[in-house]
Amino acid sequence: MPSQPLLDVRSLVEPDRVHRRAYSDPEIFDLEIKHIFEKTWIYAGHETQVPKPGDYWQFQIGRQPMVMVRGNGDAVHVLFNRCPHRGVQVCGSRHGSGGDALTCPYHSWRFHYDGSLESVPLESGYRDTRFDRDNPDFQMKRAARVQRYRGFVFASLDPKGPDLLEWLGDARMAFDDICDRSPVGRVEVVPNCFRVVQRSNWKFFMENQLDAVHPSVTHMSTGYAAADVERKLKRETGSQPLHYHYLSAFATSFDQWDQLETAGYPYGHTLLGGYMGLRPTDADTLEHERVLAAAYGEAKKEEILGRNIHHVLIYPSISVQSPLQQLRAIRPISHDRTMSEIWHFRLVGAPEAIYRRSLWYYNLVNSPSTMINADDLENWQRGQFGLNSNGGDWVSFHRDYGRDRDANGELHSTNGCSELPMRAQFRAWLKYLTETE
Ligand code: FES
Ligand SMILES: [Fe+2]
Repeated sequence: MPSQPLLDVRSLVEPDRVHRRAYSDPEIFDLEIKHIFEKTWIYAGHETQVPKPGDYWQFQIGRQPMVMVRGNGDAVHVLFNRCPHRGVQVCGSRHGSGGDALTCPYHSWRFHYDGSLESVPLESGYRDTRFDRDNPDFQMKRAARVQRYRGFVFASLDPKGPDLLEWLGDARMAFDDICDRSPVGRVEVVPNCFRVVQRSNWKFFMENQLDAVHPSVTHMSTGYAAADVERKLKRETGSQPLHYHYLSAFATSFDQWDQLETAGYPYGHTLLGGYMGLRPTDADTLEHERVLAAAYGEAKKEEILGRNIHHVLIYPSISVQSPLQQLRAIRPISHDRTMSEIWHFRLVGAPEAIYRRSLWYYNLVNSPSTMINADDLENWQRGQFGLNSNGGDWVSFHRDYGRDRDANGELHSTNGCSELPMRAQFRAWLKYLTETE
């Protein structure tokens, strides 16, 4: 049953506003770790991060150090990165290969890829003790549940709860959209990722991804400058490289952003529809279309390329920009520190030019060295300063409040600038934090 702090949580969330403690209180952060991150489905990584048996990749679920390990064949395991002997981290690098068994560097206990014990040195010394290789106490502990959807691996530390597909619901379209753009229906991760420590609460990132008002304010200077260069190039050469549009699109007016659609799904996932005119008629795009039509037929190709997605957020750990094969994962550190991982993907079987397009977006917009990402980071840090202060208690999510359409628990708005995504996220946040089980 909810304890006293959980009851307090209810007083922090109103349908159109949220108390600043949700962002600034370390106790609330502890509750989030316990009731959200260490309970629900969290993105581990993509299966292609661990292509060969024994390959591993470290990540965190809440405060738990985890490791995703490729088993034999198609299996992918998620284990606590902790040796059952005396607790030492078994896998020491961010990622690597364990070889034929995961081997603890301290006393060489060795583990199969699924965490079961392979061998211990001096095993005869354990005779007539409580040591038992079949007892889970002597194995690397497994995440309670591991499931994949189209190559994207999720793990949950809670043995109960909805399975991955039910939990994703309609938000699974993020993975369908990214994979269907490949003629063989698969994507491959591009190793490695950028990692950035944001000096702000994790929810700043989550809310920002579907905040369609901020681009033409925060990123206006970049958008205008890029549009100038774009026009100059067009004048001088008769054409403009597509990737300039990635930046000039940030100069899009409020009215245009407001034409997009937003949706909020159960469990906190949210969608911003629309697409920044990235279906041009250049030779590379047409070649990609030809490849997709050959693989799927004309009608299915149109269905795939006609999907109306700008951004899908899978709450609480990832945001996916499927049309550009981008994914960002967050790993909260404290109430005011958040690690983010910035990934991009290659469409298997698609023309190389389509990959380069994704790489341009990765480097021009999502990487920490861009003017776009840097300006976002600055906002979130300044937001955290403000919410730590006594300058006011409430965060406003009033824009277009009262105009959300509720269809069987899904919220929909035809205003792209609606603060529906934030309201939907906090609706789920409150549910996670106050659920009895
Ligand atoms: S702590 Fe791992 S083998 Fe001793
Ligand atoms: Fe931004």
